[in-house]
Amino acid sequence: MKNSSLYNNLVNECSRENVAKLLSVDSEVELNELYKHALNTKKQFTGNNIYLRGLIELSNICLKNCFYCGIRRGNGKVERYQMGFREIVDAAVYAWKNKFGSIVIQSGERNDKAFVLYIEELLEEIHRRTNHELGVTLSLGEQTEETYKRWFERGAHRYLLRIESSNEDLFYKIHPKDERHSYTKRLKALETIKKTGYQTGTGIMIGLPFQTIDHLADDLIFIKEFGIDMVGMGPYLEHEDTPLYEHRHLIPSSAVRFRRTLNMIASLRLLMPNINIASATALETLDPNGRIMALQAGANVFMPNLTPEENAINYFLYKNKPLYNGQVIKYLKDFEVKLQKSAQLIGYGEQGNSQRYAARV
Ligand code: 5AD
Ligand code: SF4
Repeated sequence: MKNSSLYNNLVNECSRENVAKLLSVDSEVELNELYKHALNTKKQFTGNNIYLRGLIELSNICLKNCFYCGIRRGNGKVERYQMGFREIVDAAVYAWKNKFGSIVIQSGERNDKAFVLYIEELLEEIHRRTNHELGVTLSLGEQTEETYKRWFERGAHRYLLRIESSNEDLFYKIHPKDERHSYTKRLKALETIKKTGYQTGTGIMIGLPFQTIDHLADDLIFIKEFGIDMVGMGPYLEHEDTPLYEHRHLIPSSAVRFRRTLNMIASLRLLMPNINIASATALETLDPNGRIMALQAGANVFMPNLTPEENAINYFLYKNKPLYNGQVIKYLKDFEVKLQKSAQLIGYGEQGNSQRYAARV
């Protein structure tokens, strides 16, 4: 089938069948056409600029035991760390001075009072030190409604909570089935985040064992129906110190996971033209140009890692996560040259809020 008619069908009727067809496109000519169409759609709705967020991974201490993740509680091989208050604020100020419009604060999941308070104080200090100019996204897992509110009131604008898979059966194949890893609770948390007023982000992993194309098509439909503002989704990368590793024979090849991720990004852009879509770090583990390619296929957010190296080496959710050795500014300069080939620029100093959020509130 010609892709142009597929795109039209998709806009008219976003069915599992139509989405699955887009995800299955694999001839070079059709892929180029799909990615180009997604890039043009992105430019039309969110502009030629790529939004920058500095990623700060403040701690790898996590109460959860997700079967896929290298820093799960059960992995005794990981040296645990918690960045100091000053160190985190310094990273945020560094982002602001270098005209990153936003930061993302990510961590393993903790729900204790001391942690909730620590984040509150951090938010206040970061905003004070950066003249209230920095956009702040939190990615700190499932919390109570009160906690989400407290952080929102202290100036966190966006919250990212990946559903990981919108299919309940698949969700329980990659998480333990217990109170701490409840599909229902996760969904509820995402609803609470939206209700609290955050720009709401979610995402999934692509190429998991047991995952089918129909699961992925349903994930995109879930994202659309839920009314998500921003998405981060990337390839699943097996980690030998996790339970899911035993099913590694069931995962697609690196090349297939890579292409499937780009197809997911491009299809989502066509389904939801004005949302923010991140170019996942995990793509770069599969291909050195992975993140550029995603930005040429519909993604519009780039998140360089600002976690100090001595901590970042202990935040391996998956193996071979890229590190910058303190060279992030140089890395960005090279990156910008590569971006110019698709007539895109880095939006220095722009917060880069989700246009979909602006349209819905
Ligand atoms: N491969 C790819 N992504 C992973 N994540 C965690 N472990 C892995 C892995 N092995 C992703 C999850 C989580 C995010 C912080 O990192 O989607 O939500
Ligand atoms: Fe913890 Fe997140 Fe890893 Fe799950 S994916 S174990 S919640 S850090």
